[in-house]
Formats: sequence, structure tokens, C-alpha cells
Amino acid sequence: MELNEAIRGRRATRQFTRAQVPRPILLELIDAAIQAPSAINTQPWHFTVIQNQALLDRIAAASKAYMLDAMAHVTAPAHPREHLQNPDFHIFYHAPALVVISATAGDWAVEDATLAAQNLMLAACAKGLGTCWIGFAQRWLGTDEGKQSIALPPEMLPVAPIIVGYPAVAMPPVPRTPPRVRWFD
Ligand SMILES: Cc1cc2nc3c(=O)[nH]c(=O)nc-3n(C[C@H](O)[C@H](O)[C@H](O)COP(=O)(O)O)c2cc1C
Repeated sequence: MELNEAIRGRRATRQFTRAQVPRPILLELIDAAIQAPSAINTQPWHFTVIQNQALLDRIAAASKAYMLDAMAHVTAPAHPREHLQNPDFHIFYHAPALVVISATAGDWAVEDATLAAQNLMLAACAKGLGTCWIGFAQRWLGTDEGKQSIALPPEMLPVAPIIVGYPAVAMPPVPRTPPRVRWFD
């Protein structure tokens, strides 16, 4: 697939077939991810791949509870809270796989892991796979309990939980607002 096609064709995917993503394909996505630039070339990323549904359900339930509790203490937009309050809402949309991209905590951990995440999502798109960054899982995975659930060492920061699977439906394009650009000539 041509790069521009992947950039424009990638969509947050929220409906998946039941087909599992084979491990060699996930490894190819991770190989694309690690081609990303990183500050001072530290390559601080770490990938946790979860294909165990029981563990995915456990992380989903704990993340949901954590986010609902966090939202109770701040003025949060109604839309995400309503989703989280729905007992049938599964934050991973029953995707067959979750890749958590973490980075060794440091000045550029978030930037480095995020660049790796975008590479992974574009590479997935080029292979006919759907992905979605699940911010709902991010906060709980960053807690001691969350890190322990995926055996992540304490010094690692989970940045990008990305679900991966085969799309069950074609996702319609999400319109973009025109870029706000200021020129200094
Ligand atoms: C940091 C981040 C967190 C996100 N968290 C969620 C999430 O928790 N659940 C979800 O369904 N989508 C999540 N998304 C996906 C966005 O909603 C989606 O990218 C956006 O609506 C634009 O749609 P598109 O990706 O199809 O262009 C997240 C995206 C990013 C970048």
C-alpha cells in the first residue's frame, strides 16, 4: 500500500471479526514500530502483546472502573462517561489483540512511544488490519496494579494501548477540520 493511502485510509476500528492476528504479523507491526525516530536514538520502547481474552477482559474492567472513579472527581465530558457507565461497553471492543507500547520513563518517553504507535497503526492498515488507541486503558495500566497485570517493570511507562484485529466493517472516514496554520514569511 502506498504511504498516502495508509495515512488517509487508517481509521480507528471498533468492530472486529473473531479472527486472531497471527504472531508473525504482529511481529511485523512491531518491526515497523521500532523504525520510528526516538530522542537521542534511545529506542526506549517495549511492547506487551496480549491475546489472552481473560486478561483483556480483566484489564478492560479495571480500566473502566478506574476511569469512572477519576471522572467522578472532575468535570468530564458526558459522552465518554456515558460509554463507561454502560455495562455492555467493552473498552477493547472485543478485539483479539492488544499491543501496549511502553517506554522507559524519561524526558521523551511519551513522544518516542507515540511515534512508534503511529508507525504500528499505519503498518497495520497497510496489512488490512484495524487498530485503535485505547486511551481509556492508559491510566489504569500506569498504576502499580496495572503494571503488575502485564508484568511491566515499575520504571516503564505504558503510553499507547493499541487494539489490533481484522475489521468487521469498513469504517467511514472521519472528517478533519481544516488545519490552523500561521505563516511567518
Ligand atoms: C491518545 C488517543 C486516545 C484514544 N482513546 C480512545 C479510546 O479510549 N476509545 C476509542 O474508542 N477511541 C480512542 N481513540 C481514537 C480516536 O477517537 C480516533 O482516533 C478519532 O476519533 C479520529 O478517528 P480516526 O482515528 O478514525 O481518524 C483515541 C485516540 C488517541 C490518539
